[in-house]
Amino acid sequence: MFVVSEEKSKDELLKLAFMNSNLDIEERVVDLLNRLTLHEKFSLMSGKRWWYTKPIERLGIKSFAMHDGPHGVRVDNKGEIQSTYFPSGICRAATWNPELSHKFGVAIAEEIREVGAHMLLAPGINIQRTPMCGRTFEYQTEDPFLNKILTVETVKGIQSQRIAACVKHFICNNQETNRFTVNSEVSERALQEIYYPAFKAAIQEADAWSIMSCYNKVNGTYGSEHEHLLREVLMNEWGFRGFVVSDWGATRTSTSTESLMNAGLTLEMPTENKYVPSILEKALDKNKFTEEILNDNIKRLLRVMLLVGLFDDYSTLPKGSRNTSDHQNLARRIAEEGMVLLKNEKNILPLNMEKTKKIALLGPMLNKRTYLEGGSSTNFPPYEIKPLEGLTEKCNGKIEIVDSPSEADVTLIIAGLRHKRGMDVEGEDRKAFKLPTSQIELITSTVEENPNTILILTGTPVSMHEWIEKVPAVIQLWYAGMEAGHALSGIIFGDINPSGKLPITFPKKLSDSPAHVSERTYPGDQNVFYDEGIYVGYRHFDTKGIEPLFPFGHGLSYTNFTYENLKFSNKKISGDESLTISLNVLNSGDYEGAEVVQLYIQDVKSSVERPLKELKGFKKINLKPNEKSTVSFDLSKDDLSYYNENLQNWIAEKGEFNVLIGSSSRDIRLQGNFEYIG
Ligand code: BGC
Repeated sequence: MFVVSEEKSKDELLKLAFMNSNLDIEERVVDLLNRLTLHEKFSLMSGKRWWYTKPIERLGIKSFAMHDGPHGVRVDNKGEIQSTYFPSGICRAATWNPELSHKFGVAIAEEIREVGAHMLLAPGINIQRTPMCGRTFEYQTEDPFLNKILTVETVKGIQSQRIAACVKHFICNNQETNRFTVNSEVSERALQEIYYPAFKAAIQEADAWSIMSCYNKVNGTYGSEHEHLLREVLMNEWGFRGFVVSDWGATRTSTSTESLMNAGLTLEMPTENKYVPSILEKALDKNKFTEEILNDNIKRLLRVMLLVGLFDDYSTLPKGSRNTSDHQNLARRIAEEGMVLLKNEKNILPLNMEKTKKIALLGPMLNKRTYLEGGSSTNFPPYEIKPLEGLTEKCNGKIEIVDSPSEADVTLIIAGLRHKRGMDVEGEDRKAFKLPTSQIELITSTVEENPNTILILTGTPVSMHEWIEKVPAVIQLWYAGMEAGHALSGIIFGDINPSGKLPITFPKKLSDSPAHVSERTYPGDQNVFYDEGIYVGYRHFDTKGIEPLFPFGHGLSYTNFTYENLKFSNKKISGDESLTISLNVLNSGDYEGAEVVQLYIQDVKSSVERPLKELKGFKKINLKPNEKSTVSFDLSKDDLSYYNENLQNWIAEKGEFNVLIGSSSRDIRLQGNFEYIG
């Protein structure tokens, strides 16, 4: 029978050890755990409703509150509580600017605090295995290194405000088709080299306080009851001290209460299904899980409750704020650095404010809001500067806006995908890789009327073969948040020099893409086979010699950067020694601008297959015209290693390694080599 304990007064509560912030956190966790009755422990393990756990008033345990999502705080589905709409994950990743991810983390955590919650259900960091995944826009990149750096900064930013980050969705949730049931069949090497690194770093480098398990199965077992993934890898190997929460409703498909409990799932959301107290009690009675396991799972949640200050006086916690001009300016900065100039023939961009007299503005995305539908990515900003508003404001009184392309000096078409069913949206994958036919017709007929046509594309990658040769300039806008229109007009008229780089390869056609080799590799039926293994994104295009439409890391600027003077601190390294590689970058053009210097390594001769090149470093630097800067990178054994499945370990083989330094994965400007002598 459950013990019924009497309520404590506020003064009595304050005297309890777990309330004493001078004590060590583990001591406080144990003290609080020991005060809980079995029934109270059970009640903490599932949600009360959508965003909240059940409170335990007797001990002053408030409801632990959490909200979506990856680019803005969403408290309700009606928009009664508004919040800043930051650019979506793929746009933020395209900045290749870790500092902006950190600042974004701080700002969104301030918004979470302001609405009285304790955890943000973000960042979403699943690898972009295919542009067709409905959530590719919400995730960051196809590359594990870039993913890792941005994830660590985002999590650190969020948690610096004593708000828990909930890094999701662990793991191989790379498609929305059959998302509740599909089984991702993936090799251990691909897990280690591609899918794990950002999650591992979130834990080991940023101490993420929560991880959300995925809906799908991984190699035959559902994410929320995957003892190997959760208990062994996440907790025992990586040292995760926070708690695992199920994706919303994910436990409905799980085998049993005990399988979840033994795997290490602490919190079942949104409400009880497998963690019904009477079922938990029976399972415990029958020794289907031990009290030790139960306590370990509970302690994880209690620990995070203490970390976020659930028991502390609110006034002593980092201050919250929402919809501030600082947050809106940050949204704008991310948009400015995240938009990617894909093509700019004859330097048609930037437009000259003095010389341009008439401009035509067209396209279905010119005046569309982009924040609505979208599951975890839905959010309700107080306003959204759509391209029309941003451009009109900029042209006001200076450039005439005309209707017909034939009358205009330049035409801008804003087209692309939306957050809506069949396009970029949670719960469903994209239906088509190409733009809607009406948009293709609009583009081709407009260019015929006016060859000075600039195309701006929202959403994730689309095929372009019908029109790319005819259109002189293309900007990838993604979903660039509530300040998108201002950022875009800044880029069009040259107040902002574009510096975004693609975090994902744009294939010429879908069948070139590694996940689209056959039905079984995507979307699968009950199983989706990751037959491409480690050859995700540019690793596939480079190694197989397939020409992409636009390569990973590509993005143009209004200025030119000259790379010179590559130097290696050593020509040979051994053991755990590291090597410093430096070079000079000169802004040899006319505009101030930022460049993302990318470093790839190439194992010249390996006993196993390895990708042609792998990103192992990048630096974003800002330079004035004629300014030169030295950029340096450190490389060590870890950067040279691959995962050996037989030895179940990371191995750096002796031999020669090439270092490729470039402005994109296919625009390598400098090259050198060194030897790892083991
Ligand atoms: C999504 C999660 C989200 C949760 C709560 C799920 O459907 O997959 O990313 O955090 O809902 O809204």
